[in-house]
Amino acid sequence: MTAPTSAPTYDGDIYCDAALLEPYEDYRNLRELGPAVWLSQHGAYAVARYDEARAVLMDGDTFRSANGIALNEPANQAILGCTLASDGELHAHLRQVVAHRLTPRALRPMKDMVAEKADELVAGLVEKGSFDAVADLARALPLSIVPDFIGWPQEGREHLLRWAGANFDSFGPMNARVEQALPQCGEMAAFGAEIVRTRNVSPGSLGAGVLEAVDQGTITTEQAMMLMLDYLAPSLDTTISAVGSAIWLFSQHPDQWDLIRNDPKLIPNAVNEVVRIESPIRAFGRLASRDTRIGDVEIPEGSRVVVIYASANRDERKFERPDEFDVTRANAVHQLGFGMGEHGCAGAGLARMETESLLQALAPRVTRFHLDGTERALNNLIRAFGRVDVTIDRAPAQG
Ligand code: HEM
Repeated sequence: MTAPTSAPTYDGDIYCDAALLEPYEDYRNLRELGPAVWLSQHGAYAVARYDEARAVLMDGDTFRSANGIALNEPANQAILGCTLASDGELHAHLRQVVAHRLTPRALRPMKDMVAEKADELVAGLVEKGSFDAVADLARALPLSIVPDFIGWPQEGREHLLRWAGANFDSFGPMNARVEQALPQCGEMAAFGAEIVRTRNVSPGSLGAGVLEAVDQGTITTEQAMMLMLDYLAPSLDTTISAVGSAIWLFSQHPDQWDLIRNDPKLIPNAVNEVVRIESPIRAFGRLASRDTRIGDVEIPEGSRVVVIYASANRDERKFERPDEFDVTRANAVHQLGFGMGEHGCAGAGLARMETESLLQALAPRVTRFHLDGTERALNNLIRAFGRVDVTIDRAPAQG
Protein backbone atom coordinates (compact mmCIF):
# COMPACT_ATOMS: atom_id res chain seq x y z
CA MET A 1 0.00 0.00 0.00
CA THR A 2 1.33 3.49 -0.81
CA ALA A 3 0.83 6.47 1.46
CA PRO A 4 -2.24 8.43 0.35
CA THR A 5 -0.66 11.70 1.52
CA SER A 6 2.82 13.09 1.96
CA ALA A 7 3.09 11.39 5.36
CA PRO A 8 6.34 9.72 6.36
CA THR A 9 6.06 5.99 5.77
CA TYR A 10 7.10 2.98 7.86
CA ASP A 11 7.25 -0.37 6.09
CA GLY A 12 7.79 -2.59 9.15
CA ASP A 13 5.06 -4.89 10.52
CA ILE A 14 4.60 -3.68 14.08
CA TYR A 15 2.31 -6.65 14.84
CA CYS A 16 4.62 -9.53 13.80
CA ASP A 17 5.89 -11.79 16.61
CA ALA A 18 9.33 -10.17 16.77
CA ALA A 19 7.83 -6.68 16.99
CA LEU A 20 5.32 -7.72 19.65
CA LEU A 21 8.16 -9.20 21.71
CA GLU A 22 10.45 -6.16 21.35
CA PRO A 23 8.24 -3.23 20.32
CA TYR A 24 10.15 -0.26 21.65
CA GLU A 25 12.70 0.14 18.82
CA ASP A 26 9.85 0.30 16.27
CA TYR A 27 8.04 2.85 18.43
CA ARG A 28 11.18 5.01 18.73
CA ASN A 29 11.56 4.95 14.94
CA LEU A 30 7.92 5.95 14.49
CA ARG A 31 8.26 8.85 16.92
CA GLU A 32 11.32 10.08 15.04
CA LEU A 33 9.66 9.88 11.66
CA GLY A 34 6.89 12.36 12.48
CA PRO A 35 3.70 13.22 14.34
CA ALA A 36 1.76 10.71 12.22
CA VAL A 37 3.35 7.95 10.15
CA TRP A 38 1.78 5.85 7.41
CA LEU A 39 2.08 2.14 8.26
CA SER A 40 2.22 0.64 4.78
CA GLN A 41 1.74 -2.93 6.09
CA HIS A 42 -1.40 -2.04 8.00
CA GLY A 43 -3.03 0.72 5.95
CA ALA A 44 -3.22 3.08 8.91
CA TYR A 45 -1.51 6.15 10.37
CA ALA A 46 0.44 5.54 13.57
CA VAL A 47 0.35 8.26 16.21
CA ALA A 48 3.35 7.45 18.38
CA ARG A 49 4.22 10.77 20.06
CA TYR A 50 2.68 11.84 23.36
CA ASP A 51 1.15 15.25 22.52
CA GLU A 52 -0.44 14.07 19.30
CA ALA A 53 -1.72 10.81 20.86
CA ARG A 54 -3.37 12.81 23.64
CA ALA A 55 -4.85 15.28 21.15
CA VAL A 56 -6.38 12.47 19.07
CA LEU A 57 -7.89 10.83 22.17
CA MET A 58 -9.37 14.16 23.26
CA ASP A 59 -11.00 14.84 19.86
CA GLY A 60 -13.68 12.17 19.63
CA ASP A 61 -15.64 14.15 17.03
CA THR A 62 -12.86 13.92 14.48
CA PHE A 63 -11.37 10.59 15.53
CA ARG A 64 -14.30 8.19 15.92
CA SER A 65 -14.38 4.87 17.71
CA ALA A 66 -17.37 3.30 15.91
CA ASN A 67 -15.82 1.28 13.05
CA GLY A 68 -12.43 2.47 14.20
CA ILE A 69 -11.09 0.59 17.21
CA ALA A 70 -9.75 -2.49 15.42
CA LEU A 71 -7.39 -2.65 12.47
CA ASN A 72 -9.62 -5.13 10.64
CA GLU A 73 -13.21 -4.92 9.37
CA PRO A 74 -14.68 -8.16 10.80
CA ALA A 75 -13.71 -7.18 14.34
CA ASN A 76 -15.00 -3.62 13.90
CA GLN A 77 -18.31 -5.00 12.64
CA ALA A 78 -18.58 -7.52 15.48
CA ILE A 79 -18.24 -4.89 18.22
CA LEU A 80 -20.02 -1.99 16.53
CA GLY A 81 -22.28 -0.24 19.03
CA CYS A 82 -20.61 -1.48 22.22
CA THR A 83 -19.25 1.07 24.72
CA LEU A 84 -15.74 0.94 23.28
CA ALA A 85 -16.95 1.17 19.67
CA SER A 86 -19.62 3.87 19.84
CA ASP A 87 -19.50 7.67 19.79
CA GLY A 88 -21.33 10.74 20.98
CA GLU A 89 -24.73 10.37 22.62
CA LEU A 90 -24.97 6.61 22.24
CA HIS A 91 -21.59 6.17 23.90
CA ALA A 92 -22.43 8.59 26.74
CA HIS A 93 -25.72 6.77 27.30
CA LEU A 94 -24.16 3.29 27.41
CA ARG A 95 -21.44 4.49 29.71
CA GLN A 96 -23.91 6.12 32.06
CA VAL A 97 -25.85 2.85 32.51
CA VAL A 98 -22.84 1.12 34.04
CA ALA A 99 -19.81 3.31 34.72
CA HIS A 100 -21.28 4.92 37.86
CA ARG A 101 -20.61 1.56 39.56
CA LEU A 102 -16.88 2.06 38.99
CA THR A 103 -16.31 5.60 40.24
CA PRO A 104 -13.87 5.95 43.19
CA ARG A 105 -16.83 6.65 45.46
CA ALA A 106 -18.82 3.62 44.30
CA LEU A 107 -15.76 1.40 44.67
CA ARG A 108 -14.92 2.56 48.19
CA PRO A 109 -16.98 -0.18 49.91
CA MET A 110 -14.95 -2.80 47.98
CA LYS A 111 -11.59 -1.52 49.19
CA ASP A 112 -11.38 -3.65 52.33
CA MET A 113 -12.57 -6.79 50.56
CA VAL A 114 -9.96 -6.36 47.78
CA ALA A 115 -7.23 -5.62 50.35
CA GLU A 116 -8.16 -8.71 52.39
CA LYS A 117 -8.12 -10.97 49.34
CA ALA A 118 -4.76 -9.54 48.26
CA ASP A 119 -3.36 -10.00 51.75
CA GLU A 120 -4.48 -13.61 52.01
CA LEU A 121 -3.16 -14.44 48.56
CA VAL A 122 0.22 -12.81 49.20
CA ALA A 123 0.61 -14.38 52.66
CA GLY A 124 0.22 -17.86 51.12
CA LEU A 125 2.71 -17.18 48.33
CA VAL A 126 5.28 -15.66 50.68
CA GLU A 127 4.99 -18.81 52.79
CA LYS A 128 5.78 -20.91 49.68
CA GLY A 129 8.84 -18.79 48.86
CA SER A 130 8.74 -19.40 45.08
CA PHE A 131 5.83 -18.80 42.72
CA ASP A 132 4.76 -17.75 39.25
CA ALA A 133 3.79 -14.09 39.62
CA VAL A 134 1.45 -14.36 36.62
CA ALA A 135 -0.59 -17.49 37.39
CA ASP A 136 -0.40 -17.37 41.18
CA LEU A 137 -0.62 -13.63 41.80
CA ALA A 138 -1.59 -11.52 38.77
CA ARG A 139 -4.38 -13.81 37.52
CA ALA A 140 -5.57 -15.04 40.87
CA LEU A 141 -6.73 -11.69 42.27
CA PRO A 142 -8.79 -10.29 39.33
CA LEU A 143 -10.33 -13.72 38.73
CA SER A 144 -11.47 -13.82 42.36
CA ILE A 145 -13.03 -10.33 42.13
CA VAL A 146 -14.15 -9.20 38.69
CA PRO A 147 -16.47 -12.04 37.55
CA ASP A 148 -18.38 -11.75 40.87
CA PHE A 149 -18.51 -7.96 40.55
CA ILE A 150 -20.02 -8.33 37.09
CA GLY A 151 -22.33 -11.08 38.31
CA TRP A 152 -21.08 -13.64 35.79
CA PRO A 153 -22.44 -17.15 36.51
CA GLN A 154 -20.07 -19.87 37.75
CA GLU A 155 -20.49 -21.89 34.57
CA GLY A 156 -18.33 -20.66 31.73
CA ARG A 157 -15.73 -19.05 34.02
CA GLU A 158 -13.12 -21.56 32.86
CA HIS A 159 -13.24 -19.88 29.42
CA LEU A 160 -12.93 -16.29 30.61
CA LEU A 161 -9.17 -15.82 30.23
CA ARG A 162 -9.14 -17.41 26.78
CA TRP A 163 -12.10 -15.31 25.63
CA ALA A 164 -10.77 -12.07 27.08
CA GLY A 165 -7.37 -12.62 25.44
CA ALA A 166 -9.04 -13.40 22.11
CA ASN A 167 -11.06 -10.22 22.40
CA PHE A 168 -7.87 -8.14 22.49
CA ASP A 169 -6.11 -10.24 19.84
CA SER A 170 -9.04 -9.70 17.47
CA PHE A 171 -8.39 -5.93 17.33
CA GLY A 172 -5.07 -6.25 15.45
CA PRO A 173 -4.47 -6.13 11.69
CA MET A 174 -5.83 -9.18 9.83
CA ASN A 175 -3.12 -11.68 10.81
CA ALA A 176 -3.13 -15.30 12.03
CA ARG A 177 -3.83 -14.20 15.61
CA VAL A 178 -6.95 -12.31 14.51
CA GLU A 179 -8.16 -15.30 12.49
CA GLN A 180 -7.82 -17.56 15.52
CA ALA A 181 -9.37 -15.02 17.84
CA LEU A 182 -12.55 -14.11 15.96
CA PRO A 183 -14.37 -17.45 16.46
CA GLN A 184 -13.54 -17.33 20.18
CA CYS A 185 -14.96 -13.80 20.39
CA GLY A 186 -18.11 -15.26 18.82
CA GLU A 187 -18.25 -17.89 21.59
CA MET A 188 -17.96 -15.18 24.23
CA ALA A 189 -20.68 -13.06 22.60
CA ALA A 190 -22.99 -16.10 22.42
CA PHE A 191 -22.39 -16.81 26.10
CA GLY A 192 -23.10 -13.17 27.01
CA ALA A 193 -26.32 -13.29 24.99
CA GLU A 194 -27.39 -16.46 26.79
CA ILE A 195 -26.77 -14.82 30.17
CA VAL A 196 -29.07 -11.95 29.22
CA ARG A 197 -31.71 -14.29 27.75
CA THR A 198 -31.80 -16.47 30.88
CA ARG A 199 -31.20 -13.51 33.26
CA ASN A 200 -28.45 -15.59 34.83
CA VAL A 201 -26.64 -12.88 36.85
CA SER A 202 -26.19 -12.46 40.59
CA PRO A 203 -28.38 -9.92 42.40
CA GLY A 204 -26.88 -6.48 43.03
CA SER A 205 -24.10 -7.01 40.47
CA LEU A 206 -23.16 -4.81 37.51
CA GLY A 207 -24.90 -7.36 35.26
CA ALA A 208 -28.09 -7.11 37.33
CA GLY A 209 -27.97 -3.32 36.78
CA VAL A 210 -27.75 -3.92 33.04
CA LEU A 211 -30.87 -6.12 33.11
CA GLU A 212 -32.72 -3.49 35.18
CA ALA A 213 -31.89 -0.94 32.48
CA VAL A 214 -33.53 -3.25 29.91
CA ASP A 215 -36.62 -3.61 32.12
CA GLN A 216 -36.82 0.18 32.46
CA GLY A 217 -36.58 0.55 28.69
CA THR A 218 -33.31 2.53 28.96
CA ILE A 219 -31.36 0.14 26.73
CA THR A 220 -32.28 -2.61 24.26
CA THR A 221 -31.71 -6.33 24.84
CA GLU A 222 -28.99 -6.26 22.15
CA GLN A 223 -27.23 -3.44 23.98
CA ALA A 224 -27.49 -5.40 27.23
CA MET A 225 -25.78 -8.36 25.55
CA MET A 226 -22.89 -6.11 24.57
CA LEU A 227 -22.72 -4.35 27.94
CA MET A 228 -22.44 -7.73 29.66
CA LEU A 229 -19.11 -8.20 27.85
CA ASP A 230 -18.01 -4.56 27.67
CA TYR A 231 -16.70 -4.63 31.21
CA LEU A 232 -15.62 -8.23 31.54
CA ALA A 233 -13.56 -8.46 28.35
CA PRO A 234 -11.11 -5.63 29.20
CA SER A 235 -10.94 -6.30 32.94
CA LEU A 236 -8.66 -9.32 33.17
CA ASP A 237 -5.65 -9.34 30.82
CA THR A 238 -5.02 -5.65 31.43
CA THR A 239 -4.68 -5.88 35.20
CA ILE A 240 -2.88 -9.22 34.90
CA SER A 241 -0.37 -7.57 32.57
CA ALA A 242 0.20 -4.67 34.99
CA VAL A 243 0.79 -6.93 37.99
CA GLY A 244 3.04 -9.36 36.08
CA SER A 245 5.11 -6.48 34.69
CA ALA A 246 5.32 -4.87 38.12
CA ILE A 247 6.90 -7.95 39.71
CA TRP A 248 9.28 -8.39 36.76
CA LEU A 249 10.29 -4.71 36.95
CA PHE A 250 10.88 -4.87 40.71
CA SER A 251 12.95 -8.04 40.31
CA GLN A 252 15.16 -6.14 37.85
CA HIS A 253 15.26 -2.92 39.90
CA PRO A 254 15.69 -3.86 43.58
CA ASP A 255 16.53 -0.22 44.40
CA GLN A 256 13.00 0.74 43.28
CA TRP A 257 11.53 -1.98 45.48
CA ASP A 258 13.49 -0.63 48.43
CA LEU A 259 11.93 2.78 47.80
CA ILE A 260 8.45 1.22 47.94
CA ARG A 261 9.23 -0.74 51.06
CA ASN A 262 10.57 2.33 52.81
CA ASP A 263 7.67 4.51 51.70
CA PRO A 264 4.51 2.58 50.68
CA LYS A 265 2.85 5.93 49.91
CA LEU A 266 4.78 5.70 46.63
CA ILE A 267 2.69 2.70 45.54
CA PRO A 268 0.01 4.63 43.56
CA ASN A 269 2.77 6.45 41.65
CA ALA A 270 4.58 3.16 41.11
CA VAL A 271 1.43 1.74 39.48
CA ASN A 272 1.37 4.72 37.10
CA GLU A 273 5.04 4.15 36.34
CA VAL A 274 4.46 0.43 35.60
CA VAL A 275 1.55 1.29 33.28
CA ARG A 276 3.70 3.97 31.63
CA ILE A 277 6.80 1.90 30.96
CA GLU A 278 5.06 -1.43 30.18
CA SER A 279 1.67 -0.22 28.95
CA PRO A 280 -0.70 -3.22 29.15
CA ILE A 281 -2.64 -2.13 26.04
CA ARG A 282 -0.29 -1.20 23.20
CA ALA A 283 -2.69 0.70 20.99
CA PHE A 284 -6.27 1.23 19.87
CA GLY A 285 -7.54 2.61 16.56
CA ARG A 286 -9.80 5.44 15.46
CA LEU A 287 -11.44 6.42 12.15
CA ALA A 288 -11.06 9.99 10.86
CA SER A 289 -14.55 11.44 10.30
CA ARG A 290 -13.25 14.32 8.13
CA ASP A 291 -10.10 15.59 6.43
CA THR A 292 -7.81 16.74 9.20
CA ARG A 293 -4.17 17.07 10.24
CA ILE A 294 -2.02 15.53 12.93
CA GLY A 295 0.87 17.95 13.33
CA ASP A 296 1.80 18.79 9.74
CA VAL A 297 0.58 15.46 8.35
CA GLU A 298 -2.64 15.45 6.35
CA ILE A 299 -5.10 12.76 7.35
CA PRO A 300 -7.86 12.20 4.77
CA GLU A 301 -11.44 11.46 5.87
CA GLY A 302 -11.99 7.73 6.35
CA SER A 303 -8.37 7.01 7.33
CA ARG A 304 -7.52 4.60 10.10
CA VAL A 305 -5.41 6.04 12.87
CA VAL A 306 -3.64 3.93 15.51
CA VAL A 307 -2.92 5.63 18.81
CA ILE A 308 0.07 3.83 20.31
CA TYR A 309 -0.23 4.44 24.07
CA ALA A 310 2.85 2.28 24.71
CA SER A 311 4.95 4.59 22.52
CA ALA A 312 3.45 7.87 23.74
CA ASN A 313 4.32 6.72 27.26
CA ARG A 314 8.00 6.46 26.30
CA ASP A 315 8.11 9.70 24.32
CA GLU A 316 11.33 11.51 25.21
CA ARG A 317 9.56 14.81 24.42
CA LYS A 318 7.31 14.20 27.44
CA PHE A 319 9.20 11.92 29.84
CA GLU A 320 12.83 12.39 30.82
CA ARG A 321 14.89 9.17 30.64
CA PRO A 322 11.75 7.44 29.28
CA ASP A 323 13.23 3.91 29.28
CA GLU A 324 14.13 4.10 32.99
CA PHE A 325 11.80 2.64 35.62
CA ASP A 326 11.49 5.30 38.33
CA VAL A 327 8.73 4.99 40.92
CA THR A 328 9.39 8.57 42.06
CA ARG A 329 8.89 10.04 38.55
CA ALA A 330 6.98 13.28 39.09
CA ASN A 331 4.89 13.15 35.92
CA ALA A 332 4.16 9.38 35.80
CA VAL A 333 0.54 10.31 36.45
CA HIS A 334 0.39 11.80 32.94
CA GLN A 335 0.82 8.37 31.34
CA LEU A 336 -1.79 7.50 28.72
CA GLY A 337 -1.95 3.76 29.48
CA PHE A 338 -5.55 4.02 30.67
CA GLY A 339 -6.49 6.09 27.63
CA MET A 340 -7.88 9.62 27.92
CA GLY A 341 -10.98 11.57 27.04
CA GLU A 342 -14.48 10.16 26.62
CA HIS A 343 -13.24 6.59 26.08
CA GLY A 344 -10.74 6.73 28.94
CA CYS A 345 -10.72 3.48 30.93
CA ALA A 346 -13.93 2.99 32.88
CA GLY A 347 -12.27 0.37 35.09
CA ALA A 348 -9.08 2.23 36.00
CA GLY A 349 -10.18 2.68 39.62
CA LEU A 350 -10.71 -1.05 40.07
CA ALA A 351 -7.48 -1.94 38.25
CA ARG A 352 -5.54 0.49 40.43
CA MET A 353 -7.19 -0.86 43.58
CA GLU A 354 -6.25 -4.46 42.71
CA THR A 355 -2.66 -3.67 41.71
CA GLU A 356 -2.02 -1.34 44.65
CA SER A 357 -3.47 -3.86 47.12
CA LEU A 358 -1.10 -6.57 45.92
CA LEU A 359 1.94 -4.29 46.18
CA GLN A 360 0.78 -3.12 49.60
CA ALA A 361 0.55 -6.72 50.78
CA LEU A 362 3.97 -7.59 49.32
CA ALA A 363 5.91 -4.54 50.55
CA PRO A 364 6.17 -5.45 54.26
CA ARG A 365 6.76 -9.16 53.57
CA VAL A 366 9.25 -9.34 50.69
CA THR A 367 12.72 -7.78 50.59
CA ARG A 368 13.78 -9.14 47.18
CA PHE A 369 12.30 -10.80 44.09
CA HIS A 370 14.83 -13.10 42.37
CA LEU A 371 13.86 -13.89 38.80
CA ASP A 372 13.97 -17.62 37.98
CA GLY A 373 12.55 -17.31 34.45
CA THR A 374 10.01 -15.56 32.24
CA GLU A 375 7.94 -16.30 29.17
CA ARG A 376 6.11 -13.68 27.10
CA ALA A 377 2.45 -14.11 26.15
CA LEU A 378 1.93 -12.88 22.59
CA ASN A 379 -1.17 -10.83 21.82
CA ASN A 380 -1.87 -8.19 19.18
CA LEU A 381 -2.87 -5.64 21.81
CA ILE A 382 -1.80 -6.80 25.23
CA ARG A 383 1.83 -6.64 26.30
CA ALA A 384 2.22 -9.26 28.99
CA PHE A 385 4.14 -12.14 30.41
CA GLY A 386 2.77 -15.68 30.36
CA ARG A 387 5.06 -16.57 33.27
CA VAL A 388 7.23 -14.67 35.73
CA ASP A 389 8.84 -17.23 38.06
CA VAL A 390 10.32 -15.69 41.18
CA THR A 391 11.89 -16.75 44.45
CA ILE A 392 11.53 -14.19 47.19
CA ASP A 393 13.57 -13.17 50.22
CA ARG A 394 11.19 -12.86 53.16
CA ALA A 395 11.32 -9.83 55.41
CA PRO A 396 12.20 -10.72 59.01
CA ALA A 397 8.99 -11.42 60.98
CA GLN A 398 7.67 -8.27 62.62
CA GLY A 399 6.45 -7.78 66.17
C1 HEM B 1 -4.26 -1.98 34.19
C2 HEM B 1 -5.50 -2.23 33.79
C3 HEM B 1 -6.19 -1.55 32.64
C4 HEM B 1 -5.67 -0.83 31.60
C5 HEM B 1 -4.21 -0.50 31.32
C6 HEM B 1 -6.78 -0.39 30.77
C7 HEM B 1 -6.64 0.39 29.62
C8 HEM B 1 -7.71 0.93 28.92
C9 HEM B 1 -7.58 1.82 27.80
C10 HEM B 1 -6.25 2.27 27.20
C11 HEM B 1 -8.82 2.17 27.40
C12 HEM B 1 -9.16 3.18 26.32
C13 HEM B 1 -9.80 2.67 25.07
C14 HEM B 1 -9.83 3.72 23.97
O1 HEM B 1 -9.04 4.66 24.00
O2 HEM B 1 -10.60 3.52 23.05
C15 HEM B 1 -9.75 1.46 28.24
C16 HEM B 1 -11.12 1.50 28.12
C17 HEM B 1 -11.97 0.73 28.88
N1 HEM B 1 -11.65 -0.06 29.96
FE1 HEM B 1 -9.83 -0.37 30.71
N2 HEM B 1 -7.94 -0.86 31.32
C18 HEM B 1 -7.63 -1.57 32.47
C19 HEM B 1 -8.52 -2.19 33.32
C20 HEM B 1 -9.89 -2.22 33.16
C21 HEM B 1 -10.83 -2.89 34.05
C22 HEM B 1 -10.45 -3.63 35.33
C23 HEM B 1 -12.07 -2.71 33.51
C24 HEM B 1 -13.42 -3.16 34.01
C25 HEM B 1 -13.75 -3.46 35.23
C26 HEM B 1 -11.92 -1.90 32.30
C27 HEM B 1 -12.96 -1.47 31.51
C28 HEM B 1 -12.81 -0.62 30.44
C29 HEM B 1 -13.95 -0.18 29.63
C30 HEM B 1 -15.40 -0.55 29.81
C31 HEM B 1 -13.41 0.66 28.64
C32 HEM B 1 -14.17 1.36 27.52
C33 HEM B 1 -14.48 2.77 27.92
C34 HEM B 1 -15.20 3.53 26.83
O3 HEM B 1 -15.07 3.21 25.65
O4 HEM B 1 -15.90 4.48 27.21
N3 HEM B 1 -10.59 -1.64 32.13
N4 HEM B 1 -9.04 0.71 29.18
